[in-house]
Amino acid sequence: MNCPRLRDWLEERYDLAGIKGIARGKFVPEHRHDIWYYTGGITLFLFLLQFLTGMLMAFYYVPHVDFAYKSIIEIVTKLRMGWFFKSLHHWGAQLAILFLFVHLFGTLLMKSYRKPRELAWVTGFILLGISIFFGLSGYLLLWDERAFAAVRVATGGAGAFPVVGGFIKAFLRGSVDVTGETLLRFYAFHVAILPLVTLALIGLHLLLVQFHGMSVPPSMEKEKLREVPFFPNVFYKDLMIWLVVLGVVVTLAVFFPPEIGVKADPLAPPPENIKPEWYFLFLLQTLKLFPGSILGMNGETIAILTVSGAILFFFLIPFLDRKSSRGERSPLFTWIGILYLIYFLVMTAVGFLS
Ligand code: HEM
Repeated sequence: MNCPRLRDWLEERYDLAGIKGIARGKFVPEHRHDIWYYTGGITLFLFLLQFLTGMLMAFYYVPHVDFAYKSIIEIVTKLRMGWFFKSLHHWGAQLAILFLFVHLFGTLLMKSYRKPRELAWVTGFILLGISIFFGLSGYLLLWDERAFAAVRVATGGAGAFPVVGGFIKAFLRGSVDVTGETLLRFYAFHVAILPLVTLALIGLHLLLVQFHGMSVPPSMEKEKLREVPFFPNVFYKDLMIWLVVLGVVVTLAVFFPPEIGVKADPLAPPPENIKPEWYFLFLLQTLKLFPGSILGMNGETIAILTVSGAILFFFLIPFLDRKSSRGERSPLFTWIGILYLIYFLVMTAVGFLS
């Protein structure tokens, strides 16, 4: 769109030439692993899609035990295209989490976390935690028996944390069990608190990435790499990839709309064979490896402490992998990354099949 009068109007008031200069000064290195640079952008696009479809549903969803399930049924059956936007929101969430993991393991294996980009990793990691909570809180909003049982298990598991567990469980549930209070809390998290925190953190994450520019894998640091301008070369590629991702989400949404289960009944026994969302399966399978009691201590508490320790270690990798930060080879951390990835994939597959 060319609108010289508007451009002149803005130019008189703002330093547009300066902004253009900054945009033109952004370059991205080209190499055989640069496909990973697009995974963060895909995640960003999917988050934007979630915000949009979520806002549309917020016009009709009612966060109350007596009406939540009914309002979901009405969105799907009575609203024009309601089923489509709900299905887009469902598949958008699945793909956003999938690409978050792809992006995480990509940056891990390319060692993009190494000095000076530690804080990009830290903000990204917090975003991953928030995204998983986004998933759990959104799941409960369906108020069907599976979501209800999954949240009961997850919040009960949080209660097994020593010292603070009881507080976390009570804080999440808002009462002794999963009730209307929990639904209201999860709604507040899902539509107000988490989106705000996410937007702020994504802003910070992108600012940090912008500040340092894109990293180059250590093995190529000494090579003379060609750099391409972000505007328009990489930006157009980003847009094309987003279009393909949009095509995939729309196709999934149209052909595989998620089923709506039976309405939650807090007094009924939990349904058989319930499974949480796929990204919780590796956690659940890990917890199953531990017996009920170990040396007289509660097995669940030990399992949760072990898993938390493994997650903490993963989080601290940029600060532990000193060799990478010094620009030296660090095969140990490459292997640790690969082991984490294999563990995650195997446990998720076992969870699916069991
Ligand atoms: C909402 C979630 C996230 C969004 C929207 C996001 C977005 C982005 C974008 C657009 C980039 C620049 C292009 C790229 O490398 O793909 C980037 C880079 C980066 N992200 Fe994320 N990211 C998210 C989560 C994460 C997570 C979970 C981690 C890891 C724990 C992470 C770590 C990094 C790192 C280390 C870089 C720098 C890459 C480099 O310089 O080569 N991000 N992110």
